[in-house]
Amino acid sequence: MITPESVRVSGVSRTEEIAADPNRVIVFDTTMRDGEQAPGFSMTAQAKVKMAQVLRDLGVDVIEAGFAAASPGDEDCIRRVAGEVEGPIFCSLSRANEKDIDATFRALAPAPKSHRRCHTFIGTSPIHRTAKLKMSTNEVLSTAVRSVEYARSLFDDVEFSAEDAFRTEPEFLADVLEAAADAGARTLNVPDTVGYATPQEVRERFAALAARIKKRHPHVIFSAHCHDDLGMAVANSLAAVEGGARQIEGAINGIGERAGNCSIEEIIMALKVREDRYGVTTGADSRHLVRASKILCEITETVIARNKSVVGINAFAHEAGIHQHGMLADSRTYEIMRPQDVGFEGSWFVLGKHSGRHAIAKRAETIGRPIEGERLAAVVAGFKQRADQIGEINDAELIAIIDRVDGVSEVVAQYA
Ligand code: KIV
Ligand code: ZN
Repeated sequence: MITPESVRVSGVSRTEEIAADPNRVIVFDTTMRDGEQAPGFSMTAQAKVKMAQVLRDLGVDVIEAGFAAASPGDEDCIRRVAGEVEGPIFCSLSRANEKDIDATFRALAPAPKSHRRCHTFIGTSPIHRTAKLKMSTNEVLSTAVRSVEYARSLFDDVEFSAEDAFRTEPEFLADVLEAAADAGARTLNVPDTVGYATPQEVRERFAALAARIKKRHPHVIFSAHCHDDLGMAVANSLAAVEGGARQIEGAINGIGERAGNCSIEEIIMALKVREDRYGVTTGADSRHLVRASKILCEITETVIARNKSVVGINAFAHEAGIHQHGMLADSRTYEIMRPQDVGFEGSWFVLGKHSGRHAIAKRAETIGRPIEGERLAAVVAGFKQRADQIGEINDAELIAIIDRVDGVSEVVAQYA
């Protein structure tokens, strides 16, 4: 039986070590919990271990590996992940009750004590209190406090979430979060559970909460957990950082309940590319982003949009002639990050009807068929005609066009 006495924790947690740098944003990945909760994203234990390995390589700080009390299977999955992958802090979600917190404790037992986090939550908004929990504000507050106290008897590192925070009365939200901090929560998560808030509201709410609660708890870490129902999850997470949040929760490819969560690849690159604006860093090695995205697609048998920010196959592809010309002169004309920095080998040009002579000539040279002058003009004309018919022109098609112009190819007949 688990008793507080049997497990009382001491020493510095990994979270405290990271948070010693005030400009460091903790990256909390919930691909395997909030992400997995969404239809179509269920994962086996083996898949979770594989996903956790790439998340470790990516350098996320916290991996929420599941919701231990959800099923015995999920408890086992979390236990396997926590035992087989070393490095990050491991976390499991728990409702605000002892049974869930005990399940989290059992699931995280294989991880070192300094790397275990209990994440407990309760709904705080009027609609959650009345329709779902059937609790008064006092009951919600005292349940939150009791669960944090119990979690702290088992874990040094406890995160408390006020579910549906952005539809909660600001005063009551601050009361609950402050009470959770008083009870020992080290991280206070302020979720926009239904993706309702706007960036300005988020920035102001975080700033106001920090102004009040940091007076009593200067070291408490504020965390953002934004959903994407209105497409603002990443913008809201960035606004939270401006308001003082130092933990961002998200998921690879932005998966999660309904429209999903803040996309980890987008937030990591936004903070990196615009460090000038946000002035914070993460511990991420962004070169693993594409691999993480691909592994998740394989595991969940899903595809992402071609134009998905950062990791989509169009993210560093160029077809328009004006863009290809600019890219050939200097890639900074049309790219704000290097493809290698997110794990692609490089940018690439897609040849199609929008491509111009510079890109066609460059590609011809690359494939060993240099063309210039009148020959180039004739190839460009043949190229445009063919592109109108079939869209993308691959190398074989380009060779065929050049051959036709040179009058040497058997493919000539197709174009006659
Ligand atoms: O969206 C949400 O509020 C959550 C909490 C449980 C953190 O996922
Ligand atoms: Zn969520």
